[in-house]
Amino acid sequence: MQITNPIGVFDSGVGGTSILKEIIHTLPFEDTIYLADIKNAPYGERTPNEILQLSIKNTERLIDHGSKLIVVACNTATTNAIDTLRNTYNIPFIGIEPAIKPAALASKTKSIGILATKGTLSSALFARTSSLYTSGLNVIEVIGKGLVELIEGGKLQSEELHQLLTSYLNPMIAQNIDYLVLGCSHYPYLIPILKQILPEGVTIIDSGQAVALQTKRILEKNNLLNQSHKAGAHKLYSNATTTVLEQLTSEAFQNKEISYLDF
Ligand code: SIN
Repeated sequence: MQITNPIGVFDSGVGGTSILKEIIHTLPFEDTIYLADIKNAPYGERTPNEILQLSIKNTERLIDHGSKLIVVACNTATTNAIDTLRNTYNIPFIGIEPAIKPAALASKTKSIGILATKGTLSSALFARTSSLYTSGLNVIEVIGKGLVELIEGGKLQSEELHQLLTSYLNPMIAQNIDYLVLGCSHYPYLIPILKQILPEGVTIIDSGQAVALQTKRILEKNNLLNQSHKAGAHKLYSNATTTVLEQLTSEAFQNKEISYLDF
């Protein structure tokens, strides 16, 4: 494997670009390839086996494109497929899990909220991580049903989204949470609206920066860090309409090329 090969990243749609932005910020000299499996989104309501098969398909496509490491930028795919991917393919995988640990350790009210998909909240990996860190805490888990569809549909400013989020956050607010953990890579795009709804003093935690730093550590450990000092190039492939992908990445990405690819 060449150190100049790209980092591969996949998600069920546009959400993983919130992680990709952090990776590019932390590793500016790396090339990246991003697959947005918009055609099959959302993953969160699918069966564990469907999520695994889609994750394998995305992985193989990224390996065909020479990926030296793959970031599974989707909580639902990570919690349902990462063990199999690591056992099957001979390259490093970085997953994204809800940042329960930092929230649990820092909470003063001993009450934290977790917003994630059904697929993530019902996975064995999530149950394992949660049981490690949340003993003695009041944990309010809420399935963000419908949120991914609204984000993928470009409806970030809609009243419908505001109302849905309010209904999901109200039980958390009533139980005095001081940390809200975002357990889906789409949800960082909701932060401006979440801040309007949540009372002051509630901290929102997402996993983007932690994933980017872990990617850097694993590249270094495997001697795969690109030693060039030229800004990386970024290819984004989508298998359905790319309008929202273009909007969400319009400012943040230089050197990018977005195209359609049937996968
Ligand atoms: C989804 O496709 O339902 C959400 C992806 C995620 O869990 O990050």
